[in-house]
Amino acid sequence: MAHQVTLIPGDGIGPEVADATVRAVQAAGADVEWERVDAGLNALEEFGVLLPSEVFASLEATRVGLKGPTATPIGGGHQSINVALRKKLGLYTNFRPVRMLPGLKTRFHDVPVNLAIFRENTEDLYSGLEHEIIPGVVESLKIITNSASLRIARAAFEYAHREGRCKVTAIHKANIMKMSDGLFLKCCREVSAAFPAVQYNELIVDNACMQLVMRPETFDLLVLPNLYGDIVSDLAAGLVGGLGIVPGANLGEHHAIFEAVHGTAQDIAGKGLANPTALMQSAVLMLAHLGERDAAQRLQGAIERVYAEGLHLTRDVGGNAPTAEFTDAVVRYAQA
Ligand code: NAI
Repeated sequence: MAHQVTLIPGDGIGPEVADATVRAVQAAGADVEWERVDAGLNALEEFGVLLPSEVFASLEATRVGLKGPTATPIGGGHQSINVALRKKLGLYTNFRPVRMLPGLKTRFHDVPVNLAIFRENTEDLYSGLEHEIIPGVVESLKIITNSASLRIARAAFEYAHREGRCKVTAIHKANIMKMSDGLFLKCCREVSAAFPAVQYNELIVDNACMQLVMRPETFDLLVLPNLYGDIVSDLAAGLVGGLGIVPGANLGEHHAIFEAVHGTAQDIAGKGLANPTALMQSAVLMLAHLGERDAAQRLQGAIERVYAEGLHLTRDVGGNAPTAEFTDAVVRYAQA
């Protein structure tokens, strides 16, 4: 029976990379039936709401989504659609594997970068609780809870144990935010005690950024509160060729939404220049989640073959190919 999957193309380059990914998934032989629903600026234009109830209804039925990026205005305007989806569906783990692709020349291509990032996805400064106390003084609330910190720590250690990862590094700023980040660390330590075979260490976030750039090969799995996870993921993407590459998965107890780390890339939207690799690799994670291991391997293999050849790469990774040419190459190899 076909897998039903909710497809949210999103804003900016979203529809371009989503269309490319749908083609690639089909070429890999996966039996997926897409239920296409709009969220974001398209939905606002068409239905007058950013996140129509159809999106939740579809995800309630399918339990699995593939999502393009959605725009969030800076300094005002509407709240983030991602934050709303993650909170409402309890998608508490944001998993982002950061790996080199074969043949891709980056500043670090001689270094074996292979990171698993576990970002807490539901609280911290993303609580959206902000207010002006008196004119000129604004307060944003950073919420860290025992339960959310324990469950992301468990997700991280269980993954490390299952996938043979040797070391978990908890990243924090508990020297300054002694109570909130202190609680996050306390939870990580508590969970680490149940996994004696997995090495555990802690790093202050500023030092972690420096060391990630200087010695990325010394890191294995990172577990972070929401905000540091967001920032450090983009830094890590820079190690392996940029935002066009790195996939992600938002995972909860009952639902999963797969999406790239990157945003709407307004500077190249509608020009046919976007790199769909990040969403395609997110689809690889999705296929594995659905139990479609062969299709997942075929798609990953096809992407890697295109990179190893280096003939049809998009501009962001040093090539000249438009989105369609890169996609055609992936589709060809996925069908082979
Ligand atoms: P961005 O990721 O959209 O772009 C940063 C830079 O990376 C740009 O130069 C862009 O052209 C390039 N880039 C990103 N993805 C690319 C791809 N697939 N192929 C080629 N080049 C790519 O980040 P920015 O500009 O900070 O954010 C733009 C909007 O996206 C904002 O409204 C932000 O809130 C939203 N956003 C949404 C996310 C989501 O829905 N998951 C995640 C991150 C940002």
